[in-house]
Amino acid sequence: VIEKVRLNLNLPNNSEKQEKVRDVLGQFFLTQTTMEQIMLVMETEMRLGLSRNPEDRKKSSLQMENTFVHETINGTENGDFLALDLGGTNYRVIYMEMREGKKTKEIMQHYVIPDPILTGTGVSLFDYLADSIAKLLHTENIKSATPIPLGFTFSFPMIQSSLRNALLLTWTKKFKCTDTVMQDVVKMLEAAIERRKDINIEVVAILNDAVGTLMTGAYEDRACGIGLILGTGCNASYMEHLERVEKWEGNTKEEKEEIIDIEWGAFGDNGVLDFFKTQYDFEVDRLSNHKGSFTFEKLFAGLYLGEIVRLVLSDLVSKDLLFADLDESKVEWVHWKGSFTTGHVSKVESDFTDTKAIEVLEELGTSPASAEDVSVLRYACAIVSNRAAKIIVSALTVLLRHIQKDEVTIAVDGSLFSYHPTLRGQMEELIAYTAPETKTKFIEVKDGSGMGAAYVAAVAHRIEQKKNM
Ligand code: GLC
Repeated sequence: VIEKVRLNLNLPNNSEKQEKVRDVLGQFFLTQTTMEQIMLVMETEMRLGLSRNPEDRKKSSLQMENTFVHETINGTENGDFLALDLGGTNYRVIYMEMREGKKTKEIMQHYVIPDPILTGTGVSLFDYLADSIAKLLHTENIKSATPIPLGFTFSFPMIQSSLRNALLLTWTKKFKCTDTVMQDVVKMLEAAIERRKDINIEVVAILNDAVGTLMTGAYEDRACGIGLILGTGCNASYMEHLERVEKWEGNTKEEKEEIIDIEWGAFGDNGVLDFFKTQYDFEVDRLSNHKGSFTFEKLFAGLYLGEIVRLVLSDLVSKDLLFADLDESKVEWVHWKGSFTTGHVSKVESDFTDTKAIEVLEELGTSPASAEDVSVLRYACAIVSNRAAKIIVSALTVLLRHIQKDEVTIAVDGSLFSYHPTLRGQMEELIAYTAPETKTKFIEVKDGSGMGAAYVAAVAHRIEQKKNM
């Protein structure tokens, strides 16, 4: 399974050119041994990340963050809730009504955050969020005498000290707002809500998108034990026994379990994954918004997959191994950051023939490309995608072995998982091989990261009501 890559490099056999192209692209081929090395490293990093000793924790690139989410929906939740989902390609505002743990009404509004807001001030970002909540409440004519409980999915690394307190550690992906790092994000949202005076809301929970995805997965399938984000960025969460969370300092009398936000996007920031990184991975990092960080997700996540392929193509062009017969003006894009997207990779991968690859090249102005060129492009997309599946599966295998259950459902949300045509199939095939002791199932929970915030709010509301009874 691992050695099998569905590739066909259509170059004259044993030609010097074929050798050279294989040298470049072969670097992306992960063997079973490399996958096992990744697993070993991750086991150690997880253990260090959960350790009681702060010095050990510092050594780990896995934050293993406490989320203060101890339970999923149990069927007794009632009320009307709001949720925000901020962090990836889309921003969402959600209104949900729940009766006896069943969703009875859902309204969801999608927005694309304008670029100036992504890199503007914190205040303008949070005003934008408060504005969108007000819009939903006004257009749907939703009024409430008591504050509506709101769950906030905030898909960035945070340091949480309770379910509703979280300091933003650092921005990632395309976000870089000023005056926000190490600030309490809930307080910033509350201040923006306060500034408006026309909406009655109480922020009851803040959570990461991987946590929201697990909550939604658990609502749909009781066997769900892992939430995975495969989108612009990548992260995972899982339900952990509190006794294994050595660093937990809260009350353990009532709570037995806790969802851990692994923050594995940053896995390898301490160099532990350098052993298999290619020169192209180092280059992606060098050209990225947040240099020297988020090593793991830069190896394959949606924001980077296309860029890795582009850097490979650019190298092949400079070595005269690709598009050598075409006029330079037709291939200039290969040297421009971001010109070849993950969407392009998905399109090329969606076809077992050359047609889509030719279409993509035509869109980019590169035609007529030779059959050889097309095959190199297809090979590059396939092997970089195959490596992605292997890396993700290596990390998931460590989690499955750690969870030690006979059956685990993995809930997945994110554009890469939804739109990449071969990734899911490769992951399913590989995981059956690397973790045969667990019956593993992937379920796609579209918008699960945001819905999960409404579920967390509903659970928090239920717990609060019980306390007051
Ligand atoms: C980045 C963020 C992380 C998030 C992931 C997926 O890795 O740091 O918090 O879960 O992207 O959106």
